[in-house]
Amino acid sequence: MFSYRDGQLYCEDTALAGLTKDYPTPFYVYSRKVIKERIATLKDLFAPVDAVLAYAVKVNNNLSILNVIAGEGLGADIISRGELYRYLKAGGDPKKVVFSGVAKTEEELRYAIERGIRLINTESIPEIAAINSIAADYGRKVDIAIRINPDVAADTHHKITTGKKGNKFGVSFETVKKNAAMIRGLTNVRLTGIAMHLGSQIMKAKPYYDAIMKAKDVLTWLKGEGFAVTSLDIGGGIGVPYKKGDAPFDFETYKRDVIPLLASLGVTIIVEPGRYLVAESAALIMKVIYIKEEGEKIFVAVDAGMNDFQRVALYDAHHEVLPLVDSKKTFSADVVGPICESSDYFTKDRVMPVVAAGDYIALMGTGGYGYSMSSNYNGREHIAEIMVDGAKSRVIRRAQTLEEMVTQEIEYLNA
Ligand code: LLP
Repeated sequence: MFSYRDGQLYCEDTALAGLTKDYPTPFYVYSRKVIKERIATLKDLFAPVDAVLAYAVKVNNNLSILNVIAGEGLGADIISRGELYRYLKAGGDPKKVVFSGVAKTEEELRYAIERGIRLINTESIPEIAAINSIAADYGRKVDIAIRINPDVAADTHHKITTGKKGNKFGVSFETVKKNAAMIRGLTNVRLTGIAMHLGSQIMKAKPYYDAIMKAKDVLTWLKGEGFAVTSLDIGGGIGVPYKKGDAPFDFETYKRDVIPLLASLGVTIIVEPGRYLVAESAALIMKVIYIKEEGEKIFVAVDAGMNDFQRVALYDAHHEVLPLVDSKKTFSADVVGPICESSDYFTKDRVMPVVAAGDYIALMGTGGYGYSMSSNYNGREHIAEIMVDGAKSRVIRRAQTLEEMVTQEIEYLNA
């Protein structure tokens, strides 16, 4: 949905250079169609399975984006009270919500239980005890799952692998046995399933196959112990090709090996896709402020920074840079932001089209873990988000104002 027409970069039928006349940079621009298409692809993939798609809200929690996703009937995987608040505000159905995380507070659990969410994925015995006691206050019996750690290598960046022994997430088969024995003695929780999440930006089907085989053993054991388990949550993780020429996720093998395995388990499969649905739906549009030359190096200094988009600074992630007006000549340059940290760059020694001060460029694949990880660091206001639908565009979040940036503090000044 992002491509050049007559040398102009378009998002759907909207020329991005035109948008820079209407909205000050930097801003995120989203294609609604990409999100819709991705949802359709996953619905199609999981059609042979009794599946519930629960979008991982952390990836992008803009209300209008959640509204598109909830409108397609997707549930939500949440990690906080705030994510549940957002998903429900956007029109989501609480009965399709699963709550993950190792450190859910009592306040958050109460909030979720009051709203009648579908499932809480538990991580520890004290957490299960807390849920049981809160559920008792409401005279309710709450469905819970145990998150297992399948100890499978997801072959991804070390900061985003979660399903390996030693990660803070999930428990071993041995611990499942202990936790299940404890749950048996509780009156206000019902063990209805198991959950896992292998990691993020996974490109192959094999880690899923291996982990699901392990989960199958746990499900079989639980059934044998008399637990009425009805669901397996396989988490998220399907990756996207950020780099031009990289292969996409191996859907073919997944369809051939993983889907029939899931269909054979006789339980509802909960899937928590995030990145796959939204990452490639957006570009971060920024303006070139200066070209700084230093010896051999060329620095393209732009008006967006690591506070607006953190993935490069945090994970050395690769994101493509495209000028809004195509240029045939290339140079090797570092695209750098205004933040006073050396990690504030979007490319390093990248061969890219030549750009000059005043030009606009797009950082691609920034719709997931983009705005949702942004901050006010260096006293910079949160930026705007624009949604494109065909030839039309609309603001889905306006930029923060300077006044708004200080609203939570101003009343305490000189107090
Ligand atoms: N479910 C659970 C329990 C998760 O922890 C995550 C992501 C997902 C689902 C969604 O995974 P996805 O389908 O998006 O891979 N900030 C990092 C990624 C952190 C992943 C956190 N968990 C990045 O920008 O690469």
